[in-house]
Amino acid sequence: MLPKKQTGEQNMNGEQPTYHVPVLLTEAVDALNIHPNGIYVDCTFGGGGHSKEILSKLGDHGRLIVFDQDADAKKNLPADTRILFIPHNFRHLSKFLRLHNIHAVDGILADLGVSSHQFDEPTRGFSIRFDAPLDMRMDQSADLTASALIKKSSAEELQLIFQEYGEVSNAKTLSQLLANYSQHGTIKTIEEFKSIIAPVVKGNPKKYLAQVFQALRIAVNDEMGALKDLLHQSVDVMKPGARIAVITFHSIEDRIVKQFFKLGDVFNEDIDPVYGTKRSSPLHLIFKKPIEPGEDEVRRNPRSRSARLRVAEKNINEGK
Ligand SMILES: C[S@@+](CC[C@H](N)C(=O)[O-])C[C@H]1O[C@@H](n2cnc3c(N)ncnc32)[C@H](O)[C@@H]1O
Repeated sequence: MLPKKQTGEQNMNGEQPTYHVPVLLTEAVDALNIHPNGIYVDCTFGGGGHSKEILSKLGDHGRLIVFDQDADAKKNLPADTRILFIPHNFRHLSKFLRLHNIHAVDGILADLGVSSHQFDEPTRGFSIRFDAPLDMRMDQSADLTASALIKKSSAEELQLIFQEYGEVSNAKTLSQLLANYSQHGTIKTIEEFKSIIAPVVKGNPKKYLAQVFQALRIAVNDEMGALKDLLHQSVDVMKPGARIAVITFHSIEDRIVKQFFKLGDVFNEDIDPVYGTKRSSPLHLIFKKPIEPGEDEVRRNPRSRSARLRVAEKNINEGK
């Protein structure tokens, strides 16, 4: 017998989940156009909200492969034989599918960024609300923490991180301050970090710190690199007619996804520099414009406010 349908906004006991409230749940899963006997990949399992919705649309012979690089996510796995959990970075998508003898899939979902659990768990070091080690690793077995990243980076490298990923207005001043500090010390905790940068905080301190923390988190987890790796491999593992749906929370991520869906690669221009011809994509868009959460969803779940969903389908005449 199949497990009871989960809406994703409820946990197994029908209560509101504390781990993560899924964003654009119906929109993203409906857009995948699930075939009951298909094979699907949820690259970002988290609290399992999207996965549970996918499972509810799969029949007995459907399969769902889920990735999460955070071992904490494993506790959210439903007891369902159709699901396979891969506790690794989704940037190794093709390798792990091959390892499990899966050569082509019917759909891929990625709901990027961190889960509320990671953000709300004081010891993980993602939030300015708590004092904890300056960590921010989604994969707690990885070597690079935010503390180590600051210690090893030059002022120029830090400036790029704060500018690009956090749009921090005085990124140069902040980076110089951190690089100078790193010459004699290591910033180990969030409170230490906050007090060291206090003299250069500009404007609303909460907003400023949120931008700085976002930038560090994206760099520590190489979020843009992982996304590009995933996109590059996605087309090869998709069957013709398979769909890919990506939910982003940052304008750079959204631009990467938009370009990839349009051009089939993460280039900046649509002219091939070698042949001078217009690039053609193996994908076509399902929606011209990204889907954003409605007012109601943002009211219920303020963390959804910057979400954007883009969906593409692999052309039917492409191989696999
Ligand atoms: C926004 S949450 C996903 C929430 C999920 N859709 C749900 O409904 O509960 C993102 C999750 O993806 C994981 N994640 C982020 N980047 C990843 C990556 N490169 N590889 C594997 N997991 C990743 C995070 O650890 C986090 O648990």
